Amino acid sequence: MENKINCGKYPLIYPLPIALIGAKVDGKANVAPIGNCGIVSVEPAVVYISISKQSYTAKGIINEGEFSINFAPCTMIKEVDRAGLVSGRDVDKSTFFHYFYNEGNIAPMIEECAVNILCKVISTTEIYNQYMFVADIDKTLVSEKYCTNGYADTKKINPIIYAMDNQYWSLGERLGTGFDIGKELL
Ligand SMILES: Cc1cc2nc3c(=O)[nH]c(=O)nc-3n(C[C@H](O)[C@H](O)[C@H](O)COP(=O)(O)O)c2cc1C
Repeated sequence: MENKINCGKYPLIYPLPIALIGAKVDGKANVAPIGNCGIVSVEPAVVYISISKQSYTAKGIINEGEFSINFAPCTMIKEVDRAGLVSGRDVDKSTFFHYFYNEGNIAPMIEECAVNILCKVISTTEIYNQYMFVADIDKTLVSEKYCTNGYADTKKINPIIYAMDNQYWSLGERLGTGFDIGKELL
């Protein structure tokens, strides 16, 4: 048995996505980076985010029932971090990025981001000081320059990832194909 160090009750989940959450709050576009974001189901397409009740973004999501999840390329790391350093309650973040809207929807999406996912809340759960929003995906957009053969290209997108050591990382090398590479061991 290898020596294991007890790190306590620590959510060392690897890696975390850094998602920019867009919401309309008090009539203006607002944005906050979060790490607590994931997939509930692929088909139907359902996702969740978990965000502090104190955040200005949460206020907008509660009121409007919509938000967007946007993934920025690594080149935008400083802009992404800046959005997490200030709250929309104190600073107008509607000028931080260029926002666009889908007709008939309320949630702002971020033009500079490679991926934009429009979400409609289907369930809100209060967990300690967080709201966990579970949402249906309405639409997923990928900027053409980040696609290959009409599909999202992970290497081109090069999303920002994050770990519980409070460091941002970029993607490493492709290791193999899912539901396939393990066949060598069967
Ligand atoms: C790398 C990073 C990850 C973050 N992850 C979360 C998160 O998962 N949940 C959350 O509530 N806040 C998270 N934050 C903090 C919010 O982005 C921050 O509180 C922001 O100011 C909230 O803005 P708002 O009040 O305009 O919504 C994160 C910030 C950074 C920089």
